[in-house]
Amino acid sequence: MSKVTTRREGDVLVVSLDNPPVNAFSAEVRQQMAAAIEEAGESDEIRAVVIRAEGRMFSGGADITEFNSAPVDPSLPDLIDSIETLAKPVVIALNGTALGGGCEIALGCHYRIAVPSAKIGLPEVKIGILPGAGGTQRLPRVVGVEQALPIIVTGNPISAKKAESIGLVDRVVEPEKLREEAIAFAREVAERDEHPVSSRRTDKISDTDPDVFDDFREKHARRLRGQEAPEKCIQAVKLATELPYEEGIAKEREFFIELVSGTQSKALRHVFFAERQAGKIDGLAKDVRPLPVRKVGIIGAGTMGGGIAMNFLSAGYDVTIVERKQDALDRGVGIIRKNYDATARKGRMTTEQVDAAMGHLTTSLDYRDFADCDLVIEAVFELMEIKKEVFGRLDEICKPDAIMASNTSYLDVNEIAACTSRPENVLGLHFFSPANIMRLLEVVRGDKTSPQVLVTAMDLAKKIGKVAVVSGVCHGFIGNRMLAVRQEQANAMLMEGALPDQIDRVLLEFGFPMGPFQMADLAGLDLGWKEDESDSSTIRDVLCERGRRGQKTGKGFYDYDENRRRAPSEEVNEVIRDFASRSGKEQRDISEEEIRERLLYPMVNEGALILEEGIAQRAGDIDTVWVNGYGWPPYTGGPMFWADTIGLDRILAGLERYEGTMEDREISTLLREKAAKGEGFND
Ligand code: 3HC
Ligand code: NAI
Repeated sequence: MSKVTTRREGDVLVVSLDNPPVNAFSAEVRQQMAAAIEEAGESDEIRAVVIRAEGRMFSGGADITEFNSAPVDPSLPDLIDSIETLAKPVVIALNGTALGGGCEIALGCHYRIAVPSAKIGLPEVKIGILPGAGGTQRLPRVVGVEQALPIIVTGNPISAKKAESIGLVDRVVEPEKLREEAIAFAREVAERDEHPVSSRRTDKISDTDPDVFDDFREKHARRLRGQEAPEKCIQAVKLATELPYEEGIAKEREFFIELVSGTQSKALRHVFFAERQAGKIDGLAKDVRPLPVRKVGIIGAGTMGGGIAMNFLSAGYDVTIVERKQDALDRGVGIIRKNYDATARKGRMTTEQVDAAMGHLTTSLDYRDFADCDLVIEAVFELMEIKKEVFGRLDEICKPDAIMASNTSYLDVNEIAACTSRPENVLGLHFFSPANIMRLLEVVRGDKTSPQVLVTAMDLAKKIGKVAVVSGVCHGFIGNRMLAVRQEQANAMLMEGALPDQIDRVLLEFGFPMGPFQMADLAGLDLGWKEDESDSSTIRDVLCERGRRGQKTGKGFYDYDENRRRAPSEEVNEVIRDFASRSGKEQRDISEEEIRERLLYPMVNEGALILEEGIAQRAGDIDTVWVNGYGWPPYTGGPMFWADTIGLDRILAGLERYEGTMEDREISTLLREKAAKGEGFND
């Protein structure tokens, strides 16, 4: 079936794109659209062209799956050139989102109209490349450098209204009138002698303040750290102020080819597809449909319960929170309200939206109010006895097909399920803190969890904007289990002579937002620590006893000033040295390379064990967990992809070198086998 069709409406040729799900500009689409443009050029009756699309969006851009194979003609830049140089005006009608190549096609057209809900953007940077079909040269010529820079360098799209205000679209029209208005617009402009051509608006852009590029680099330094593509984006836009279009476009091509074949872009493309793949569950019958969920119950209004509730409230679900005591309930609801108000102050929600979300919330001290809930999520203290008691109560109260979920971080979901009469309805829904913000959700599949319950959880995750990954039952599931081995090594290296700052710095330089000791200070060293049971047996015990409980007390592993700037602490170093000498450990200088390898290689090994035990379905799922839940730098692809790029033989050799430090962990057989065969986890 044709993906691009043409239809003559009198003297206007209407070219329609139809390539579900996202109308990507695949080779086939490009060929067919080029033929349509040729048809318009050759026909004497046709005076103008409308390009439009079927479906819920205009286009998600170039077909990313084609980036790994040899290019097929016509290239997207050639197709766009043929549109731009057509002697007849071309109007593009954006029925929804137009991203990447979809936006670049629009830039090649002479006139652009869009529906109010359309989002227009160049997200290429997010997959480690730059707009490679003229976007870096045409967009600044159309909207100016200052508007173009953030669109290209952050990759975040803009609304149709904003696009209209900066001259990127000519008109905004309601969806039901789009086709008809586009044709009328095309007829109207066909009368004109000349049409705006993006690449010809100016030879080179001459009125730009030269500081704008460095200012932008400085302002976004933190976000751009370690990445190749944003810098190339900035350089490419700058070229539009220095070179004529043809020369600028040649440079853009050069940058594109360099980036697209580089490791960072491959890693980011892996992350893009892995996130989408993670939502799919292997081995389930195709006809398993999600159960309807309208009302959600939450037990516990603490740190997690409140955040979890916000996800559902924002998405329009009715939510009932049940607590033990009124004051805990009031505190929890107060925090939800405060968070929403803060979001509204930042302009990310209207007050009506806040009121609507809060309007879906009811609170109670009585479990019986869960009776009509379709899903109940437990977020009480992390103690098996309490969880069992809670699930026992739920089993008595919840309706027969209600799903009962635990937000436990570590506990055995099978054991929790076993204290109900319907373990098939039980699973883990492990949210990450802050639960209203973090995108990751580990969906923990118990031995008896039914396919339908699992599918419902995955479907719900999507509806509340989460990236869901299925994990089997084990201590800490995918994410925390791997975190534990990293922490083990970090602690061991302190005893061997590395300092907290040295260890944190290695991870920071690798691209993590923070290291383990910064993270501990942020979370509070006394999380889970009990003063009356403390016996000074760990470094953490001693720091807590000395009042060094993290950022909130002004000191923890680091000292903090009034601006929360951290500095290494001599007191802490003293405590560490003291522990080391008592344990008979010799302190030595540890190289950054050893720190990096000992922090990261055991994580890869744990990931391999998780794979071979069938806890994770695929390597990409593990990468998705670490990129979305723990700040693993996406441009390295996640731990398993990164390991592939390093070479599993190298990882194995490193693990063998450090095996003595790995407590009771074994080296994964899967890792050994793959290393021996020269394969990667993602092959
Ligand atoms: N190429 C190939 N496949 C794509 C794709 C693309 N550009 N965009 C999405 N897909 C696929 C997804 O992998 C998914 O496949 P699956 O069903 O097999 O898992 C399917 O389309 C649906 O995608 P989503 O689940 O993401 O659908 P949403 O409706 O949630 O989101 C979207 C739609 C906003 C378009 C989102 O898919 C997206 O952000 N896509 C990528 C956009 C992008 O990066 N474009 C730039 C491409 S590079 C380019 O244009 C180069 C040029 O400058 C030369
Ligand atoms: P919290 O201590 O902030 O909140 C727990 C709340 O549960 C308290 O408000 C308490 O009054 C209430 N509660 C206790 N027993 C109850 C009962 N029987 N009935 C009703 N309410 C009861 O704890 P937090 O941090 O929210 O953790 C909750 C769960 O989420 C734990 O299982 C934890 O492991 C898990 N988790 C925590 C994360 C975190 O970063 N804090 C991250 C992911 C999961």
